[in-house]
Amino acid sequence: MASLFGPLPKVVRLLDAGAGAGALTAAIVSRLCEKKDGVHTVQAMLYELDPLIQEALLETMRDCQRLCALAGIQFSFTIHATDFIQEMSACLADTLFGAKPPTFDAAIVNPPYRKIGIDSAERRSLRQVGVETSNLYAGFIALIQRLLAPGGQIVGITPRSFCNGPYFRSFREDFLTNLEVHRLHVFESRGAAFRDDSVLQENIIFHAVKGRKQPRELVVSSSSGEHGDIVAENVIPFAEIVHQHDAEKCIHIPSAPGHAVAKKAMDSLHTTLASLGVTVSTGRVVDFRLKDALRWAPEKGTVPLLYPCHFNGGTIHWPKADARKPNAILNNDETRPWLVKSDVYLLTKRFTSKEERRRLVACLFDPKEVEAEWLGIENHLNYFHADGRGLDRNLAVGLFAFLNSTVVDQYFRRFSGHTQVNATDLRRLAYPDRETLQSMGAEMKELDQPQAEIDKLVEKHLHAHR
Ligand SMILES: C[S@@+](CC[C@H](N)C(=O)[O-])C[C@H]1O[C@@H](n2cnc3c(N)ncnc32)[C@H](O)[C@@H]1O
Repeated sequence: MASLFGPLPKVVRLLDAGAGAGALTAAIVSRLCEKKDGVHTVQAMLYELDPLIQEALLETMRDCQRLCALAGIQFSFTIHATDFIQEMSACLADTLFGAKPPTFDAAIVNPPYRKIGIDSAERRSLRQVGVETSNLYAGFIALIQRLLAPGGQIVGITPRSFCNGPYFRSFREDFLTNLEVHRLHVFESRGAAFRDDSVLQENIIFHAVKGRKQPRELVVSSSSGEHGDIVAENVIPFAEIVHQHDAEKCIHIPSAPGHAVAKKAMDSLHTTLASLGVTVSTGRVVDFRLKDALRWAPEKGTVPLLYPCHFNGGTIHWPKADARKPNAILNNDETRPWLVKSDVYLLTKRFTSKEERRRLVACLFDPKEVEAEWLGIENHLNYFHADGRGLDRNLAVGLFAFLNSTVVDQYFRRFSGHTQVNATDLRRLAYPDRETLQSMGAEMKELDQPQAEIDKLVEKHLHAHR
């Protein structure tokens, strides 16, 4: 991370927010002591809330001071054992009344990550400076951005989750408007970088510069996150990272060879889900809210309740005798608003396990295979429908093939680093036109096909489409 900084001024005002034992500042100091940067003074400001780590942090800073002295660099530091979010939000908000927030030339940060509730103290603090975000790490980055001098640099390591999804939309806007992204590195394997905390999330390192002109291209690299792993590097146009007309400002990170192929194939598609007359919604049955209405096995007065565990080789296997989830839900006035009329629907999992080969897993619900008038679709599933009604079967099977294809999976991985698939992600994808989907569906006689067969079919139709 320290090696990613570009040229630095002779006097560096350095920020390390959430400093822990000071490892990141020590890394910068070690780089500067090589004396290639021409830096003669470092003024470090560190924020660390945890009282138990203060002594170690102080010790590291004293080591930094000794190393710098040997290298002829003046090193001073201040440690704030206070809440960075609260203090800096207040300071930035108070500028109107004369307080002056500190300014930095460089910030290196591995911020804490934790969800922050809508009414939490952190959210309220951040709101004072116009930052609205649901995770602590994004709050740290947004504040640091505001504290950088023009041309000031930040190198951060964070979860990749801010790169897509509605929750980070306004954070992305803020980030991309005020920071020029110069380098991205992605750790392909979730968990490797932060294994101790068992975080199931891809992580990225970014180097960005305070300013408003994005570079024409930047280096994107990737590694598995295992120690000593080879780093693959590519130069990618910025326009491929953030698409010019994308209102969502998704940050795509093409890091595997398959990603470029997928982008090319997907770029030829221009049909939206809405123009197909298809809607995707999240399953309406939130099981813990309807606990009394759930039944392990079907009985009189119940209808099927579908969970991801009912997915089986492309179709629904119901009821599932050894399921750890209820198979049925009462069909009465209380539950009816949460049920849908049985019909042809395409279902997708909202969460896949790390081990699953694809992020997108789609399955067809065919009313011919499960006899019922109504259905419960549980909240861990998304379902594709036509304004509340079922889909034309060939269209549904075409969507099944498309969404289960490697092309779509690879495309998805360019912009999503987590195993969650939001309905918005599915809404935003470009799809083949109705005719292509229907002929794909008509050609697919069996749903339980090897991946290679699905890919062959989809590629053939996408190719003809071009
Ligand atoms: C992910 S750790 C990173 C530690 C260190 N920078 C490193 O990379 O080894 C985040 C650190 O932020 C600290 N922290 C959490 N919330 C904080 C806050 N509101 N203000 C300051 N520090 C905080 C935690 O105690 C923790 O040490």
